[in-house]
Amino acid sequence: MITLQRRGWGAVMGHVLVTGATGGIGVALVGALVEAGHRVTAVGRDVGRLNVPGIEVDLAEPGTLAAAMGALEDARELGDVQALVHCAGISPVAAVADADPETWRRTLAVNVASAAELARLTLPALRRSHGHVIFVNAAPGMTGVARWSAFVASKAALHELADSLRDEEAAHGVRVTTIYPGPTATDLLGEVRNAFGRPYDPELCIRPQTLAAMIVWVLSAPADAYACELSVLPSH
Ligand SMILES: NC(=O)c1ccc[n+]([C@@H]2O[C@H](COP(=O)([O-])OP(=O)(O)OC[C@H]3O[C@@H](n4cnc5c(N)ncnc54)[C@H](OP(=O)(O)O)[C@@H]3O)[C@@H](O)[C@H]2O)c1
Repeated sequence: MITLQRRGWGAVMGHVLVTGATGGIGVALVGALVEAGHRVTAVGRDVGRLNVPGIEVDLAEPGTLAAAMGALEDARELGDVQALVHCAGISPVAAVADADPETWRRTLAVNVASAAELARLTLPALRRSHGHVIFVNAAPGMTGVARWSAFVASKAALHELADSLRDEEAAHGVRVTTIYPGPTATDLLGEVRNAFGRPYDPELCIRPQTLAAMIVWVLSAPADAYACELSVLPSH
């Protein structure tokens, strides 16, 4: 059995599964985790190009994840997972009048259903390790946005998933944290701002490296307490 010896800040270093690891925030997060001494496995479509081990999956197809992750468990690669960070996300900009069923299906699958399925698959290990699940949500207070319904609906569901999971797993010692990042300088934000006809100045946004450092900080909390929600805003 793996038991974490949480003593002081930063005392825990372990095996962290990261989705969205090829994205703007995810690349910074993988770097920060590795620098902090964690072992990282990236979970996604194109993870072979990263400098960490990867599991090739399409998160738009949550029903395929068990087979991919199960193969790893057989190889004893998954049994020591101590944290899951779901950072993958898609962000289609379309009015309800224009969003087809496939837009809704993909958005809900990538942003929330795959998060639930990965949590389900890793819970045995997370319970053993008294581990941590982190869901990267939307900006603080992001609700009811015209032309963004699939995205905000998926993130509202991700919030509810986190709260339900936290309640269910507290007795097993599993921590669940939702991160609410304000505007963070990635290509995705540039595309979204462009679709909304809004200006994008990366200098006025959170640096992905700063957000990544905060996520690593959340993971490093000692035994007595942790941040169950964290809102992050740019200083400007
Ligand atoms: N940037 C911001 O301002 C901001 C603010 C608040 C919240 N967030 C959230 O932060 C997270 C990361 O955002 P980001 O700005 O870093 O976005 P990004 O650069 O577009 O990265 C998105 C990540 O999700 C992965 N992904 C998308 N569809 C996938 C699929 N079907 N299967 C597997 N992986 C898939 C992408 O993988 P591929 O490389 O394969 O496409 C990529 O690694 C998202 O959940 C986003 O909603 C971002």
